[in-house]
This record gives sequence, structure tokens and C-alpha cells, in this order.
Amino acid sequence: MSNTGAPQRMFVRRMRFPYPDSLKAWWNPARPEFSHVVNAASLAMPFLEPYLIETMRKAKERIADPKLQQDVDLYIGQESTHFRQHQQFNKRLADLGYKTVPNLEATLKADYDALARTRSFTFNVAYAEGFEAMALTIGHMLVEDREFLFGGADPAVASLVLWHFVEEIEHKCVTYDVFKALDGRYAWRIYGLLYATVHIIARTRQGYRAMLIEDGLWYTLKSRLALYRLLARILLKLTPRLLRVLRPGYDPRSVRDPAWVAAWWRLHGEGRDGLGQLDTTRLSSPVPIPRTA
Ligand SMILES: [Fe+2]
Ligand SMILES: [Fe+2]
Repeated sequence: MSNTGAPQRMFVRRMRFPYPDSLKAWWNPARPEFSHVVNAASLAMPFLEPYLIETMRKAKERIADPKLQQDVDLYIGQESTHFRQHQQFNKRLADLGYKTVPNLEATLKADYDALARTRSFTFNVAYAEGFEAMALTIGHMLVEDREFLFGGADPAVASLVLWHFVEEIEHKCVTYDVFKALDGRYAWRIYGLLYATVHIIARTRQGYRAMLIEDGLWYTLKSRLALYRLLARILLKLTPRLLRVLRPGYDPRSVRDPAWVAAWWRLHGEGRDGLGQLDTTRLSSPVPIPRTA
């Protein structure tokens, strides 16, 4: 393993995130707005990720390179575990009584059914690569800002999100390689990136807005200012990374993996327990520290 940007070997990992019975939607009590941004994004995963899987399954049939076919299988394995974990977490959110959860789930299901049914194969591969390129920038942002965003948060939820993005960083090359092998046109790559980004942002906003309304926070000045400050902070960190993706010569291999992520991989490879329950009071450490350590 290295953090030089060379492709990692991918692993499909079985994870356990022990949510407490008392889990709240504000799983980061200091940051209810960030909690709901993540909650809203989580609601998309059981619809978005099966759509990506289906697209990559079809793509695999058209690929000749056996190494890339193997990468696609590992990608599908990782995305399958992601959406199943998010399903469990989303069920906890629904059980907390948020009325927006079933409504948003129905909207997301309709969105991805329609994309898969009515759009071209080229569009779906470009969407997949666009989403993955954006997810890579988000993964880097979350890891870099982990102490601010997840400090003092529920260990299981913070570990779920960080594990998901550790693996997003790990499979950063797969949809890019597939897109390059099957099409590779710059205009389609950029269209896929912009479409996926605008789509996910719009649905995430719809979700966190609805949940913040249900919590009675959306119309309070304090919460709205906290939300805008948070979004500005995120945007500031994402923009230079997204600009890099827009360059014609962009290749995810040139994006160096964060040292914290390389340390996560190393700990997991050593069979270390507790990565599903990180100590969120020690996130400033250059290596992940399990809560039980
Ligand atoms: Fe994923
Ligand atoms: Fe992914």
C-alpha cells in the first residue's frame, strides 16, 4: 500500500457499526446541520449505488481487459456493502419519525429508475464517472476536515461515513478506467460530472431542508447561519479539487491518497478491530484511533 496515487488493491470489507439504541438524527450534537447534510446524502445511497452497480455490470460485458473486469467486480462488491450499510442507517432515521424519509426515498427511486430506463448507456457511464470523481473530492475534504466535522460525534456514524469514503478513495480509478475504455470523450466526462453533482446537491438540499424544517431549525437565524458557514467551508475545500477534475488531462491516479486513509487501510489489513467505532475525540491524530484502544 502506498499513498503515492498508485492504484490500491481493493478489498470488499465486512464492517460493523454499533449504533447505540439512543442514536439521534443529530449524531454530531455540536453540528445538527452537518448531521442532516450527511443524513440526506445517506438517503440517496440505496438508490444511487445500485444504479452505479447496474451500469458497471453492463459496462463489464463490453470490456476486454481482464484486470479491469476484476476491478469492476471489486467495485461492485464495495458499492454493494456501502448501500446495504446505508440502508440500515436510513432505517434508523426513518424510525426516528422523519416524514421526509419515505417521500425522499420515493423521489430518489423514481430518479434513478428513470435514468437507467431512459438515458443512453454513454450517459449512465458518464454519470457514474462524474459521481465517482465528485465522491473522490468529497472523500478528501471529509478526511482533511475530519476533526471539525466529526469531532465528538457518535463513533459508529462517523466511522460509517469515513469508511465509505476510505473505500471511495480506494476505488477512485475504476469508473474512470471504464469510461476511458468505452468512450473517453471529454465533453461527456464533464457533462456526467456536472449532471451528477447538480443532481446530488439538489436532492441532498431537499433532504436536509425538510429534516431541518421538521426539527424546527430551518427558520431560525442561528441554525441558518451555521448551515451557510458550513456550506461555505465545504465549498471552499471542494472547489479547487473539482477544478482539477475539469482539466482535460485529469486522471484520478494523480490525486494522492491522504496519509490518514493509507493508515486506515494498513490498520484494517493488520486485522485491527474498532474501525467501525473510531474515537471521535482523537480525530486530529494522523492515524485512525479505535474507541476501544
Ligand atoms: Fe459507495
Ligand atoms: Fe464509489
